[in-house]
Amino acid sequence: MGIKPLLRVLAREREAVPPVWMMRQAGRYLPEYRAVREKAGGFLDLCFNPKLAAEVTLQPVCRFGFDAAILFSDILIVPLALGRKVEFLAGEGPKLEPLTDAAALASLRETIDGKILAPVYETVARVKSALDSKTALIGFCGAPWTVATYMVAGEATPDQAPARLFALRDPENFSTLIDLLVQGSIEYLAGQLKAGAEVVQIFDTWAGVLSPEQFDRWCIQPTEKIVAGVRRQVPGAKIIGFPRGAGAMALPYAIATGVDGIGLDWTFLRSLAHDILQPRVTVQGNVDPLALLAGGAALDREVDDVMAALSNGPLIFNLGHGILPDTPIAHVERMLKRVRG
Ligand code: CP3
Repeated sequence: MGIKPLLRVLAREREAVPPVWMMRQAGRYLPEYRAVREKAGGFLDLCFNPKLAAEVTLQPVCRFGFDAAILFSDILIVPLALGRKVEFLAGEGPKLEPLTDAAALASLRETIDGKILAPVYETVARVKSALDSKTALIGFCGAPWTVATYMVAGEATPDQAPARLFALRDPENFSTLIDLLVQGSIEYLAGQLKAGAEVVQIFDTWAGVLSPEQFDRWCIQPTEKIVAGVRRQVPGAKIIGFPRGAGAMALPYAIATGVDGIGLDWTFLRSLAHDILQPRVTVQGNVDPLALLAGGAALDREVDDVMAALSNGPLIFNLGHGILPDTPIAHVERMLKRVRG
């Protein structure tokens, strides 16, 4: 049994003070991140530079004493390792060549390219050796559905309509894409765990746009396969799922996938999370990132509400989505002080 608080809580023990980390904790709200980012050149150059990626991974842990470090990388590394062109243009977000038909699908590699991913595993190993005995290391991947939304559209979209249409019009080819991502994600997460990650999180940022039937097919079933596949290679692997916007599908997701923890966004009713989710899985979340940006009484209320509703069961204190770039550092400090007392 791990001694690190995050691992204890994922083994369903309750901690008087819950372990805390933040999604996107290494990022633009930190001046020290912006400095390294500038030095690295492009965003992908930073992701593939183990020395600098390890440095930015550790920055928020050093500054705030979080209970976990999350590998600095991106979910769109996997399409890159499957042979797609991926770019991050400054101020514009990701750009991929859109994947619109069976011919494009046929051009994908069948397995992820280990050479491309090697620097990421090296980052994991470097971070692991730098962490103290209380701080856990989290690896991650994007869930197949969310990664597919970017691969199909070629960019971020407000409603993920291109991928939803592909899935509705041509479910067979879409399921080929999802299966490739399932296999690639299994290899990628197992690789991170073997390199030293102690927990992995599966980010399904766009799960909430799917109908219940489609949610089962494109979110729950692929995630279930990833969880089982990773645990075949790494028995007992600790896994957190983050099906953002799952709402009423959160319980079927938790039961079917077998994740150890479920990340909830801020729209999820906390009393319901306590009553139906916490008896089965560790709950992670779910402060509204805008409350953290706002600070003051709005932030205090939000922190108190999470603690009142969820801290008498296994809880990982976190945001309901990534920290926003304009968030003042003082607000993060205020949140931590209130959680830790
Ligand atoms: O959490 C962490 O600190 C670890 C690093 C991490 C990044 N991206 C770094 C990043 C993680 C876990 C991610 C996951 C990710 N990437 C998701 C899922 C979680 C979520 O936030 O919804 C998604 C959908 C992506 C894809 C992605 N990457 C987009 C749409 C963008 C552009 C929007 C934006 O925030 O800039 C990115 C870029 C990105 N990934 C940045 C960082 C720090 C900003 C790039 C920069 O420094 O200029």
